[in-house]
Amino acid sequence: MKKKVIIALSLLVCASYISAQRIDVDKELNYCHQQVQRALDGLKTNGGWDYSQMPRNILAQDLKNGKTKWNCRPSTPEEWCGGFWPGVLWYDYEFSGDAFVGRQANNYTASLAYLADREPYDHDLGFLVYCSFGNGMRIVPNAAYRDVIVGTAEQLAKLYNPTVGTILSWPREVKKQGWPHNTIMDNMINLEMLFWASRNGGSSNLYDVAVDHATTTMNNHFRKDGSCYHVAVYDTISGKLIKGVTHQGYADHTMWARGQSWAIYGYTMVYRETRDPKFLSFAQKVTDIYLKRLPERSNDWVPLWDFDAPDNMTSKDASAACVVASALLELSCYVDSAKAAYYRDCAENMLYSLSRNYQSGEQCVSFLLHSTGHHPAGSEIDAAIIYADYYYYEALLRLRRLRQGRPILGIG
Ligand code: GLY
Repeated sequence: MKKKVIIALSLLVCASYISAQRIDVDKELNYCHQQVQRALDGLKTNGGWDYSQMPRNILAQDLKNGKTKWNCRPSTPEEWCGGFWPGVLWYDYEFSGDAFVGRQANNYTASLAYLADREPYDHDLGFLVYCSFGNGMRIVPNAAYRDVIVGTAEQLAKLYNPTVGTILSWPREVKKQGWPHNTIMDNMINLEMLFWASRNGGSSNLYDVAVDHATTTMNNHFRKDGSCYHVAVYDTISGKLIKGVTHQGYADHTMWARGQSWAIYGYTMVYRETRDPKFLSFAQKVTDIYLKRLPERSNDWVPLWDFDAPDNMTSKDASAACVVASALLELSCYVDSAKAAYYRDCAENMLYSLSRNYQSGEQCVSFLLHSTGHHPAGSEIDAAIIYADYYYYEALLRLRRLRQGRPILGIG
Protein backbone atom coordinates (compact mmCIF):
# COMPACT_ATOMS: atom_id res chain seq x y z
CA MET A 1 0.00 0.00 0.00
CA LYS A 2 2.74 2.41 1.09
CA LYS A 3 4.67 1.60 -2.11
CA LYS A 4 1.57 2.29 -4.24
CA VAL A 5 1.07 5.67 -2.57
CA ILE A 6 4.70 6.60 -3.18
CA ILE A 7 4.48 5.58 -6.86
CA ALA A 8 1.23 7.54 -7.27
CA LEU A 9 2.75 10.60 -5.61
CA SER A 10 5.88 10.46 -7.71
CA LEU A 11 3.79 10.13 -10.88
CA LEU A 12 1.80 13.17 -9.78
CA VAL A 13 4.95 15.21 -9.13
CA CYS A 14 6.43 14.25 -12.51
CA ALA A 15 3.17 14.85 -14.39
CA SER A 16 2.52 18.24 -12.80
CA TYR A 17 6.10 19.35 -13.34
CA ILE A 18 6.40 19.17 -17.10
CA SER A 19 5.07 18.20 -20.41
CA ALA A 20 7.61 17.65 -23.13
CA GLN A 21 8.14 20.07 -26.00
CA ARG A 22 9.09 17.97 -29.00
CA ILE A 23 11.75 19.06 -31.43
CA ASP A 24 12.07 18.01 -35.05
CA VAL A 25 15.28 16.10 -34.44
CA ASP A 26 16.24 15.66 -38.11
CA LYS A 27 15.85 19.40 -38.68
CA GLU A 28 18.25 20.14 -35.79
CA LEU A 29 20.71 17.48 -36.98
CA ASN A 30 20.66 19.01 -40.46
CA TYR A 31 21.37 22.39 -38.88
CA CYS A 32 24.42 20.86 -37.15
CA HIS A 33 25.58 19.36 -40.45
CA GLN A 34 25.37 22.76 -42.15
CA GLN A 35 27.29 24.44 -39.31
CA VAL A 36 30.00 21.77 -39.55
CA GLN A 37 30.41 22.53 -43.25
CA ARG A 38 30.66 26.26 -42.52
CA ALA A 39 33.16 25.58 -39.75
CA LEU A 40 35.34 23.40 -41.97
CA ASP A 41 35.34 26.13 -44.64
CA GLY A 42 36.43 28.64 -41.99
CA LEU A 43 39.26 26.39 -40.78
CA LYS A 44 40.83 26.13 -44.23
CA THR A 45 44.06 28.07 -44.48
CA ASN A 46 46.38 28.29 -47.50
CA GLY A 47 44.26 25.80 -49.36
CA GLY A 48 44.30 23.12 -46.64
CA TRP A 49 43.70 22.28 -43.00
CA ASP A 50 46.08 22.28 -40.07
CA TYR A 51 44.88 19.17 -38.24
CA SER A 52 46.82 20.03 -35.11
CA GLN A 53 44.67 23.14 -34.49
CA MET A 54 41.49 22.26 -32.62
CA PRO A 55 38.40 24.51 -32.40
CA ARG A 56 37.83 25.64 -28.83
CA ASN A 57 35.59 28.73 -28.54
CA ILE A 58 34.01 31.80 -30.07
CA LEU A 59 33.83 34.52 -27.44
CA ALA A 60 31.11 37.12 -26.90
CA GLN A 61 33.70 39.76 -27.84
CA ASP A 62 34.43 37.94 -31.11
CA LEU A 63 30.76 38.11 -32.07
CA LYS A 64 30.69 41.85 -31.33
CA ASN A 65 33.69 42.20 -33.65
CA GLY A 66 31.98 40.22 -36.39
CA LYS A 67 34.23 37.17 -36.00
CA THR A 68 32.34 34.04 -36.93
CA LYS A 69 35.05 31.34 -36.98
CA TRP A 70 36.35 29.09 -34.22
CA ASN A 71 39.34 30.17 -32.14
CA CYS A 72 41.65 27.16 -32.20
CA ARG A 73 44.25 25.76 -29.84
CA PRO A 74 47.08 23.36 -30.68
CA SER A 75 46.48 19.71 -29.82
CA THR A 76 48.98 19.59 -26.96
CA PRO A 77 48.38 17.58 -23.75
CA GLU A 78 47.58 20.86 -21.94
CA GLU A 79 44.57 21.52 -24.20
CA TRP A 80 41.90 19.31 -22.60
CA CYS A 81 39.29 20.08 -25.29
CA GLY A 82 41.23 18.72 -28.28
CA GLY A 83 39.04 15.60 -28.66
CA PHE A 84 35.69 17.36 -29.00
CA TRP A 85 36.06 18.69 -32.54
CA PRO A 86 37.08 15.30 -33.96
CA GLY A 87 34.12 13.90 -31.97
CA VAL A 88 31.74 16.43 -33.53
CA LEU A 89 33.04 15.41 -36.96
CA TRP A 90 32.47 11.70 -36.19
CA TYR A 91 28.91 12.41 -35.08
CA ASP A 92 28.38 14.45 -38.21
CA TYR A 93 29.77 11.66 -40.36
CA GLU A 94 27.52 9.18 -38.56
CA PHE A 95 24.48 11.36 -39.26
CA SER A 96 25.23 12.59 -42.77
CA GLY A 97 27.37 9.81 -44.24
CA ASP A 98 29.35 12.61 -45.92
CA ALA A 99 32.65 10.97 -46.93
CA PHE A 100 34.53 14.28 -46.83
CA VAL A 101 33.50 14.82 -43.20
CA GLY A 102 34.56 11.24 -42.42
CA ARG A 103 38.03 11.91 -43.85
CA GLN A 104 38.30 15.13 -41.85
CA ALA A 105 37.22 13.28 -38.70
CA ASN A 106 40.02 10.78 -39.26
CA ASN A 107 42.59 13.51 -39.96
CA TYR A 108 41.82 15.57 -36.85
CA THR A 109 41.60 12.40 -34.73
CA ALA A 110 45.05 11.27 -35.91
CA SER A 111 46.69 14.37 -34.44
CA LEU A 112 45.94 13.04 -30.93
CA ALA A 113 47.50 9.58 -31.41
CA TYR A 114 50.74 10.63 -29.72
CA LEU A 115 48.95 10.68 -26.34
CA ALA A 116 49.12 6.88 -26.19
CA ASP A 117 52.90 7.05 -25.88
CA ARG A 118 53.20 10.08 -23.62
CA GLU A 119 53.40 10.13 -19.82
CA PRO A 120 50.06 11.59 -18.66
CA TYR A 121 49.96 15.35 -18.23
CA ASP A 122 46.64 14.95 -16.41
CA HIS A 123 43.35 13.04 -16.28
CA ASP A 124 41.71 14.54 -19.39
CA LEU A 125 43.00 11.74 -21.59
CA GLY A 126 39.50 10.23 -21.81
CA PHE A 127 38.00 13.48 -23.05
CA LEU A 128 40.85 13.76 -25.55
CA VAL A 129 41.01 10.22 -26.87
CA TYR A 130 37.63 8.62 -26.22
CA CYS A 131 35.59 11.45 -27.82
CA SER A 132 37.87 11.26 -30.88
CA PHE A 133 39.27 7.72 -31.29
CA GLY A 134 36.41 6.20 -29.27
CA ASN A 135 33.80 7.51 -31.68
CA GLY A 136 36.04 6.66 -34.63
CA MET A 137 36.38 3.09 -33.35
CA ARG A 138 32.62 2.79 -32.95
CA ILE A 139 31.91 4.03 -36.47
CA VAL A 140 34.86 2.65 -38.46
CA PRO A 141 36.42 -0.06 -36.24
CA ASN A 142 40.14 -0.69 -36.85
CA ALA A 143 43.16 -2.00 -34.97
CA ALA A 144 45.13 1.26 -35.13
CA TYR A 145 42.38 3.20 -33.34
CA ARG A 146 41.98 0.40 -30.80
CA ASP A 147 45.71 0.49 -30.00
CA VAL A 148 45.63 4.25 -29.37
CA ILE A 149 42.63 3.95 -27.02
CA VAL A 150 44.16 1.04 -25.09
CA GLY A 151 47.59 2.70 -24.92
CA THR A 152 46.08 5.96 -23.65
CA ALA A 153 43.98 4.13 -21.06
CA GLU A 154 47.16 2.50 -19.72
CA GLN A 155 48.74 5.98 -19.48
CA LEU A 156 45.72 7.34 -17.61
CA ALA A 157 45.81 4.47 -15.12
CA LYS A 158 49.32 5.57 -14.08
CA LEU A 159 47.66 8.46 -12.23
CA TYR A 160 45.64 6.06 -10.04
CA ASN A 161 46.55 6.15 -6.35
CA PRO A 162 45.51 2.87 -4.65
CA THR A 163 45.74 4.36 -1.15
CA VAL A 164 43.15 6.99 -2.02
CA GLY A 165 41.25 4.95 -4.61
CA THR A 166 41.04 7.61 -7.31
CA ILE A 167 42.95 8.94 -10.31
CA LEU A 168 44.94 12.11 -9.62
CA SER A 169 43.39 14.92 -11.66
CA TRP A 170 45.84 17.79 -11.80
CA PRO A 171 49.41 16.73 -10.95
CA ARG A 172 50.45 20.38 -11.33
CA GLU A 173 48.18 21.47 -8.47
CA VAL A 174 49.78 19.14 -5.90
CA LYS A 175 52.64 21.52 -5.16
CA LYS A 176 50.96 24.73 -6.21
CA GLN A 177 47.90 24.36 -3.95
CA GLY A 178 49.39 22.04 -1.33
CA TRP A 179 46.82 19.40 -2.30
CA PRO A 180 48.49 15.99 -1.73
CA HIS A 181 46.06 14.27 -4.10
CA ASN A 182 43.23 16.04 -5.89
CA THR A 183 40.38 14.60 -7.91
CA ILE A 184 37.88 16.68 -9.84
CA MET A 185 34.32 15.64 -10.70
CA ASP A 186 35.06 16.02 -14.43
CA ASN A 187 37.36 13.02 -14.07
CA MET A 188 34.35 10.67 -13.97
CA ILE A 189 33.97 11.02 -17.74
CA ASN A 190 37.44 9.62 -18.37
CA LEU A 191 36.45 6.28 -16.83
CA GLU A 192 34.52 5.34 -19.96
CA MET A 193 37.80 4.87 -21.84
CA LEU A 194 39.14 2.62 -19.05
CA PHE A 195 36.05 0.40 -19.18
CA TRP A 196 36.30 0.10 -22.94
CA ALA A 197 40.03 -0.63 -22.91
CA SER A 198 39.62 -3.33 -20.25
CA ARG A 199 37.31 -5.22 -22.66
CA ASN A 200 39.44 -4.66 -25.73
CA GLY A 201 42.96 -5.83 -24.98
CA GLY A 202 43.99 -3.53 -22.11
CA SER A 203 45.02 -4.70 -18.63
CA SER A 204 42.16 -6.16 -16.63
CA ASN A 205 43.00 -3.81 -13.73
CA LEU A 206 41.68 -0.89 -15.84
CA TYR A 207 38.17 -2.04 -14.94
CA ASP A 208 39.07 -2.17 -11.22
CA VAL A 209 40.64 1.29 -11.35
CA ALA A 210 37.48 2.73 -12.93
CA VAL A 211 35.17 1.07 -10.38
CA ASP A 212 37.35 2.08 -7.44
CA HIS A 213 37.50 5.68 -8.69
CA ALA A 214 33.70 5.80 -9.09
CA THR A 215 33.12 4.26 -5.64
CA THR A 216 35.58 6.49 -3.79
CA THR A 217 34.19 9.54 -5.55
CA MET A 218 30.62 8.51 -4.66
CA ASN A 219 31.62 8.19 -1.00
CA ASN A 220 33.56 11.44 -0.66
CA HIS A 221 32.81 13.95 -3.38
CA PHE A 222 29.16 14.74 -2.59
CA ARG A 223 27.10 16.55 -0.02
CA LYS A 224 24.15 14.81 1.63
CA ASP A 225 21.69 16.25 -0.91
CA GLY A 226 23.60 14.73 -3.87
CA SER A 227 25.25 17.95 -5.08
CA CYS A 228 28.99 17.70 -5.67
CA TYR A 229 32.11 19.62 -4.89
CA HIS A 230 34.26 20.38 -7.89
CA VAL A 231 37.49 19.19 -6.26
CA ALA A 232 38.07 16.57 -3.57
CA VAL A 233 41.45 16.82 -1.80
CA TYR A 234 42.79 13.62 -0.24
CA ASP A 235 45.57 12.68 2.15
CA THR A 236 48.00 10.31 0.42
CA ILE A 237 49.06 8.62 3.68
CA SER A 238 45.65 7.82 5.19
CA GLY A 239 43.77 7.93 1.87
CA LYS A 240 41.10 10.01 3.61
CA LEU A 241 39.28 13.05 2.30
CA ILE A 242 40.78 16.32 3.60
CA LYS A 243 38.24 18.71 2.08
CA GLY A 244 35.92 19.45 -0.80
CA VAL A 245 36.50 22.76 -2.59
CA THR A 246 35.66 24.50 -5.83
CA HIS A 247 37.81 25.64 -8.72
CA GLN A 248 35.39 26.60 -11.48
CA GLY A 249 32.27 27.09 -9.34
CA TYR A 250 31.21 30.14 -7.37
CA ALA A 251 32.14 28.88 -3.89
CA ASP A 252 33.10 25.68 -2.10
CA HIS A 253 29.54 25.07 -0.90
CA THR A 254 27.72 25.83 -4.19
CA MET A 255 26.55 23.62 -7.05
CA TRP A 256 28.64 24.34 -10.13
CA ALA A 257 26.36 23.39 -13.02
CA ARG A 258 28.83 21.61 -15.26
CA GLY A 259 30.40 19.75 -12.35
CA GLN A 260 26.97 18.34 -11.50
CA SER A 261 26.41 17.51 -15.17
CA TRP A 262 29.63 15.46 -15.19
CA ALA A 263 28.36 13.58 -12.14
CA ILE A 264 25.01 12.82 -13.83
CA TYR A 265 26.65 11.65 -17.04
CA GLY A 266 29.44 9.85 -15.19
CA TYR A 267 27.30 7.72 -12.86
CA THR A 268 24.85 6.87 -15.65
CA MET A 269 27.80 5.58 -17.70
CA VAL A 270 29.31 3.71 -14.71
CA TYR A 271 25.97 1.94 -14.18
CA ARG A 272 25.91 0.95 -17.87
CA GLU A 273 29.43 -0.47 -17.59
CA THR A 274 29.01 -2.28 -14.23
CA ARG A 275 25.25 -2.93 -13.91
CA ASP A 276 25.76 -2.40 -10.17
CA PRO A 277 22.42 -1.09 -8.79
CA LYS A 278 24.16 1.19 -6.28
CA PHE A 279 25.46 3.27 -9.18
CA LEU A 280 21.98 3.44 -10.72
CA SER A 281 20.40 4.76 -7.55
CA PHE A 282 23.29 7.18 -7.14
CA ALA A 283 22.92 8.40 -10.74
CA GLN A 284 19.28 9.18 -9.95
CA LYS A 285 20.18 10.96 -6.73
CA VAL A 286 22.68 13.29 -8.40
CA THR A 287 20.21 13.87 -11.24
CA ASP A 288 17.22 14.55 -9.03
CA ILE A 289 18.89 17.37 -7.08
CA TYR A 290 19.83 19.03 -10.38
CA LEU A 291 16.28 18.75 -11.76
CA LYS A 292 14.71 19.80 -8.48
CA ARG A 293 16.83 22.94 -8.25
CA LEU A 294 16.74 23.84 -11.96
CA PRO A 295 13.53 25.94 -11.94
CA GLU A 296 14.81 28.11 -9.05
CA ARG A 297 17.14 30.07 -11.31
CA SER A 298 16.17 29.01 -14.83
CA ASN A 299 12.95 29.47 -16.75
CA ASP A 300 14.22 27.67 -19.78
CA TRP A 301 15.85 24.36 -18.79
CA VAL A 302 19.36 25.79 -19.14
CA PRO A 303 21.07 26.46 -15.82
CA LEU A 304 23.07 29.40 -14.63
CA TRP A 305 26.77 28.49 -14.67
CA ASP A 306 26.46 27.90 -10.91
CA PHE A 307 23.12 27.17 -9.26
CA ASP A 308 24.06 29.52 -6.42
CA ALA A 309 25.66 32.28 -8.46
CA PRO A 310 24.89 35.76 -7.13
CA ASP A 311 22.53 38.08 -9.02
CA ASN A 312 25.35 40.00 -10.68
CA MET A 313 26.87 36.84 -12.24
CA THR A 314 24.01 35.29 -14.11
CA SER A 315 25.52 33.93 -17.29
CA LYS A 316 24.10 30.64 -18.44
CA ASP A 317 25.86 27.39 -19.19
CA ALA A 318 24.37 25.73 -22.25
CA SER A 319 27.13 23.12 -22.12
CA ALA A 320 25.83 21.75 -18.80
CA ALA A 321 22.34 21.44 -20.30
CA CYS A 322 23.76 19.51 -23.28
CA VAL A 323 25.66 17.07 -21.05
CA VAL A 324 22.61 16.54 -18.82
CA ALA A 325 20.21 16.10 -21.76
CA SER A 326 22.44 13.44 -23.26
CA ALA A 327 22.83 11.64 -19.92
CA LEU A 328 19.09 11.77 -19.13
CA LEU A 329 18.26 10.09 -22.41
CA GLU A 330 20.50 7.20 -21.43
CA LEU A 331 19.35 7.13 -17.81
CA SER A 332 15.74 6.95 -19.00
CA CYS A 333 16.58 3.50 -20.44
CA TYR A 334 17.51 2.06 -17.02
CA VAL A 335 14.71 3.19 -14.68
CA ASP A 336 11.04 2.37 -14.10
CA SER A 337 8.52 3.68 -16.61
CA ALA A 338 7.32 6.71 -14.59
CA LYS A 339 10.86 7.89 -13.94
CA ALA A 340 11.85 7.08 -17.54
CA ALA A 341 9.09 9.31 -18.89
CA TYR A 342 10.09 12.09 -16.50
CA TYR A 343 13.79 11.98 -17.45
CA ARG A 344 13.02 11.75 -21.15
CA ASP A 345 10.57 14.65 -20.99
CA CYS A 346 13.13 16.77 -19.15
CA ALA A 347 15.77 15.91 -21.77
CA GLU A 348 13.40 16.77 -24.62
CA ASN A 349 12.57 20.09 -22.98
CA MET A 350 16.26 20.89 -22.62
CA LEU A 351 16.90 20.09 -26.27
CA TYR A 352 13.86 22.12 -27.32
CA SER A 353 15.11 25.14 -25.38
CA LEU A 354 18.68 24.77 -26.65
CA SER A 355 17.47 24.39 -30.23
CA ARG A 356 15.03 27.26 -30.09
CA ASN A 357 16.89 29.86 -28.03
CA TYR A 358 20.58 28.99 -27.95
CA GLN A 359 21.53 28.16 -31.54
CA SER A 360 24.13 30.41 -33.15
CA GLY A 361 22.47 30.34 -36.58
CA GLU A 362 24.08 32.85 -38.92
CA GLN A 363 25.99 34.60 -36.12
CA CYS A 364 28.88 32.14 -36.14
CA VAL A 365 29.81 28.56 -37.04
CA SER A 366 29.25 26.83 -33.70
CA PHE A 367 25.95 25.05 -33.05
CA LEU A 368 25.23 26.87 -29.79
CA LEU A 369 25.96 30.08 -27.89
CA HIS A 370 25.87 30.93 -24.16
CA SER A 371 28.14 28.50 -22.37
CA THR A 372 30.44 29.38 -19.50
CA GLY A 373 33.91 27.88 -19.19
CA HIS A 374 35.63 29.22 -16.09
CA HIS A 375 33.72 32.11 -14.57
CA PRO A 376 36.00 32.74 -11.54
CA ALA A 377 38.96 33.11 -13.93
CA GLY A 378 36.92 35.42 -16.21
CA SER A 379 37.41 32.93 -19.01
CA GLU A 380 34.87 31.94 -21.70
CA ILE A 381 31.88 33.66 -20.11
CA ASP A 382 28.79 33.54 -22.32
CA ALA A 383 30.72 31.93 -25.16
CA ALA A 384 30.32 29.27 -27.80
CA ILE A 385 32.44 26.37 -26.53
CA ILE A 386 33.23 23.20 -28.42
CA TYR A 387 32.15 20.73 -25.72
CA ALA A 388 28.62 22.18 -25.71
CA ASP A 389 28.41 21.36 -29.41
CA TYR A 390 29.82 17.86 -28.88
CA TYR A 391 27.22 16.90 -26.25
CA TYR A 392 24.42 18.66 -28.16
CA TYR A 393 25.13 16.53 -31.23
CA GLU A 394 25.41 13.41 -29.08
CA ALA A 395 22.09 14.14 -27.36
CA LEU A 396 20.31 14.74 -30.69
CA LEU A 397 21.61 11.46 -32.07
CA ARG A 398 20.56 9.66 -28.89
CA LEU A 399 17.08 11.15 -29.09
CA ARG A 400 16.79 10.03 -32.70
CA ARG A 401 17.85 6.50 -31.69
CA LEU A 402 15.27 6.37 -28.91
CA ARG A 403 12.51 7.62 -31.20
CA GLN A 404 13.45 4.83 -33.59
CA GLY A 405 13.08 2.35 -30.72
CA ARG A 406 16.82 1.57 -30.62
CA PRO A 407 18.70 1.43 -27.30
CA ILE A 408 21.58 3.69 -26.29
CA LEU A 409 24.73 1.63 -25.98
CA GLY A 410 27.34 4.23 -25.07
CA ILE A 411 28.71 7.35 -26.71
CA GLY A 412 26.71 8.10 -29.81
N1 GLY B 1 37.44 21.34 -16.40
C1 GLY B 1 36.48 20.83 -17.26
C2 GLY B 1 35.28 21.66 -17.37
O1 GLY B 1 35.42 22.86 -17.53
O2 GLY B 1 34.20 21.15 -17.31
